[in-house]
Formats: sequence, structure tokens, C-alpha cells
Amino acid sequence: MSGGGAGHWDAVYGARAEAALTWFEADPALSLRLIAAHAGPDAPVIDVGAGASRLVDALLARGYGRLTCLDLSAAALGVAQARLGAAAARVSWVVADVTAWAPEPGAYAVWHDRAAFHFLTDAAARRAYLSRMAAALRPGGHAILMTFAEDGPEMCSGLPVQRWSPAALAAEVEAQVPGAFAPVASERHLHHTPKGGAQGFQASVFRRL
Ligand SMILES: C[S@@+](CC[C@H](N)C(=O)[O-])C[C@H]1O[C@@H](n2cnc3c(N)ncnc32)[C@H](O)[C@@H]1O
Repeated sequence: MSGGGAGHWDAVYGARAEAALTWFEADPALSLRLIAAHAGPDAPVIDVGAGASRLVDALLARGYGRLTCLDLSAAALGVAQARLGAAAARVSWVVADVTAWAPEPGAYAVWHDRAAFHFLTDAAARRAYLSRMAAALRPGGHAILMTFAEDGPEMCSGLPVQRWSPAALAAEVEAQVPGAFAPVASERHLHHTPKGGAQGFQASVFRRL
């Protein structure tokens, strides 16, 4: 598979504290803004490749009550569950490879992915991912894909990544799942790593047709 297996990611999350990971964000402000722009607290939202992200904490605090966090790594989700304590019971947790997962059709209004899709460096894996994204989202739902931008890092967590411009990503989505999505917005984002580096990201929003 592209993107490393569960063993790779379990080892990464087991070896370093959450706040030392290069992708750590204390305040997932852009994700929150994009989710809130497209869905209210009653909407079912899935964070794909959620890892140990604090997005789930922030969404719970804003009243979102139908949250699913999916990740290949049980260790990663365990970090988030431990941090949330009793509130973890208010979230659905799925340990799965998203490229092999069978979502309930139309179950979600929002599909959010920050820094997981860009690990899919082969087209077959991207097709598997995007066909699941299409199946999981209800018509009128939104997908938010945040990846390294064209000038972003070439590697993350010791793995190669595929960098995307919004235009190239929109073309890839259309090529892999024709007619399923319309691009609605995109923006650039600079992520500041815990050690003070800067990583160029793009965030693209697609509407399920
Ligand atoms: C760079 S981390 C980002 C985590 C989180 N989204 C965040 O912003 O903190 C990438 C995450 O994607 C997960 N991942 C990678 N490939 C995956 C796959 N095929 N299926 C599900 N999760 C995957 C990894 O386990 C890891 O937690």
C-alpha cells in the first residue's frame, strides 16, 4: 500500500508525544472554519486519518455531536481517546485503512482529511480512497481535503507524499470519480511545525453532487 501500514503509524505515535509531531496543531482553526462553513453541529462529520488530532475536541466543544474519527493507527486514536477521557464515548472510532473501508452509503455530511490523502502516491490507492469518499458522503455533502501544496515538503513521517495544487487535485478527483464532486473553494495555508518550520498546505472543498 502507499502511505505506510498500521505498524508504521503505531510506531510513530508510540514514539513521540502528540505535541512533538510535525503535523501537531494546538488550534485546528482552518479545519474548524471550513467545517462550520458547510455543516452545523447536527451534521454527521468524519475526520479521515484523524490521528491524535485535537479537531475532535474542538468540534465537541462547539456542540458537534455526530462525530467519527477514522485512522489506520489504533495507537493514534488511543492518544485522542485518552486525552478526551469520558467525552471519548460521544465519538465513533474506526480503526481502518480508508482505502479498504466499507462506509455506510451517504452516512456523512462532511468528510474532513488533513494530511492523510497526500500519502497516497499511487493512482489505484487514490481511486480506492475517492470512491469511498463518494460513497460515504450524501448528495450536497462536502469533502475538505487538506494536503501539502505544490511547494510543500516532499516527505512526511519518513514517507513520500504527493503534493497538490487545488487545480491538480480537482482534476484528480474528477478523473477518479467522474461526475461525483464539484470543487467549491480552495485556499492556501501555512502550517508552523513545533520546531518552527513552515509547511505549505492547500485546502480544497468539494461538494458531493
Ligand atoms: C500526518 S498524520 C495527520 C493526522 C491528523 N489528521 C492531524 O491533522 O493531526 C496522517 C494520519 O493519517 C493516517 N493514515 C495514513 N494512511 C491512512 C490510511 N490509508 N487509512 C487511514 N488512515 C491513514 C495516519 O495513521 C496518521 O494518523
